[in-house]
Amino acid sequence: MKLAISGKGGVGKTTLTAALAKIYADNKYSVIVVDADPDANLATALGISADDADKITPISHLKKLIAERTGGEPGTFGGMFKLNPKVDDVPDKYVHRVDGIRLMVMGTVETGGSGCICPESAFVKRLLQHLVIERREAVILDMEAGIEHLGRATAKYVDALLVVVEPGQRSAQTARVVKKLAADIGIENVYAVLNRFSTDEQEKVITELLPGLPVLGKIGEYATVREADLQGRPVWETAPDYMSAVKSIWKQLES
Ligand SMILES: Nc1ncnc2c1ncn2[C@@H]1O[C@H](COP(=O)(O)OP(=O)(O)OP(=O)(O)O)[C@@H](O)[C@H]1O
Ligand SMILES: [Mg+2]
Repeated sequence: MKLAISGKGGVGKTTLTAALAKIYADNKYSVIVVDADPDANLATALGISADDADKITPISHLKKLIAERTGGEPGTFGGMFKLNPKVDDVPDKYVHRVDGIRLMVMGTVETGGSGCICPESAFVKRLLQHLVIERREAVILDMEAGIEHLGRATAKYVDALLVVVEPGQRSAQTARVVKKLAADIGIENVYAVLNRFSTDEQEKVITELLPGLPVLGKIGEYATVREADLQGRPVWETAPDYMSAVKSIWKQLES
């Protein structure tokens, strides 16, 4: 299963990514989670300490590796470099292991204006493509609302895109934009996940704003989830209710 998670800022994407990864790992799947958000914080959601998380070098900052593999000079635009560098050993070498989950942090890539590519972006793009198309593991991408950099070649192999929505019109509006972007790049299965919903009224108002976006499941608002974030612990240690809601979503997804 290859999943991408998107949605407006702060709606709960990273928490959901971590919880789904844990469920895959508990069910004996090999799982790789990818922090593809420039403001990376998936490590912390997996329970990696803030100090250790700060020590993680994002893939796009591995200048020597990128130079060696692409034949280009990272940090420069133009010039000649390979668009199809070797990446298949990267998921085994540049990962952080926690609770049976493998984490890769992609990092920000300067794109130097629209359409322009540099060695770092070529490398990260190829790596994402490898993860989604060529790996046998379950792969979950924690993304921002902008999903365009996934690229068409990769997008069509994403089994499902989950758009997290909170009870607010603005997150529903972002979900509509994401749905359109997804259609543009060729992702077929796009579902909404309602997060932090506590009343039927909230569900009614928001689902009416999301025509054509099937709801995969609903998660409540749990103080234990905020508590996990406060303490820098993973949700599976503090929030069993949240985990069982995510487990229902996972079952729905698998079926
Ligand atoms: N169901 C929930 N109940 C209570 N709190 C929640 C719930 N889901 C997420 N949160 C809290 O909301 C905050 C934002 O969650 P998270 O970091 O997962 O969102 P995000 O979409 O990844 O944010 P960003 O866009 O900044 O990456 C965190 O403090 C998290 O603990
Ligand atoms: Mg996040």
